[in-house]
Amino acid sequence: MHIDIISCVPNLLASPLEHSILKRAQDKDLLSVAVHDLREFGTGNYRQIDDYQYGGGAGMVLMPEPLSQMIDKLKAERDYNEIIYLAPDGDLLTQGLANKLSLHQNLMLICGHYKGIDERIREHYITMEISIGDYVLSGGELAALVLVDSLGRLIPGVLNDESSALSDSFQDDLLAPPIYTRPADFKGWKVPDVLLSGHDKKIEDWRYDAAVKRTKERRPDLLDGE
Ligand code: ADE
Repeated sequence: MHIDIISCVPNLLASPLEHSILKRAQDKDLLSVAVHDLREFGTGNYRQIDDYQYGGGAGMVLMPEPLSQMIDKLKAERDYNEIIYLAPDGDLLTQGLANKLSLHQNLMLICGHYKGIDERIREHYITMEISIGDYVLSGGELAALVLVDSLGRLIPGVLNDESSALSDSFQDDLLAPPIYTRPADFKGWKVPDVLLSGHDKKIEDWRYDAAVKRTKERRPDLLDGE
């Protein structure tokens, strides 16, 4: 999978892409991520990319020209399955949506900043809008990283243990069951006997029951199929 990210604060994106699972995915050539600085297409001596809102109101808006030029340049290089704008009023990112997007070949992510981007870019270029939750961030960069992380780990071969992504919370609409590692007795707090039994079927049943119990307690809405 290839992901192009357009941002006016590209440095915000660097570190998370250079460590852990996302680094491994890129090292294995299963994922490539390119970050593009919107200022490259800024206008005038100051490379301006934002301007005041028509009609008044607080907050700057990313201008349409630099964004359209950057998007056109990238579109000339490859075909995109989706051109995604990260915004608090987009569709909520869920595991189901991450699963679907992880099957794509090429994605373009556009990060707003300040107040957001000119509506005409949303109308004419953007094919999908995604929010990572009902709160407002200073820009789309952190949301883009959340999206890239949630997709990257789903690409076959990225995680060492293939089944590991399938047993995550939210796959099958269940939260993950409790997990334990050594020692079996820590300060007198014991690991459930069944997990030490070596009995695969019993362990699987225990995990399923524990996942259902945890989901009922913490996120009953997932069981209602809401
Ligand atoms: N940009 C600002 N807030 C956001 C959010 N909650 N999700 C995605 N992008 C955003």
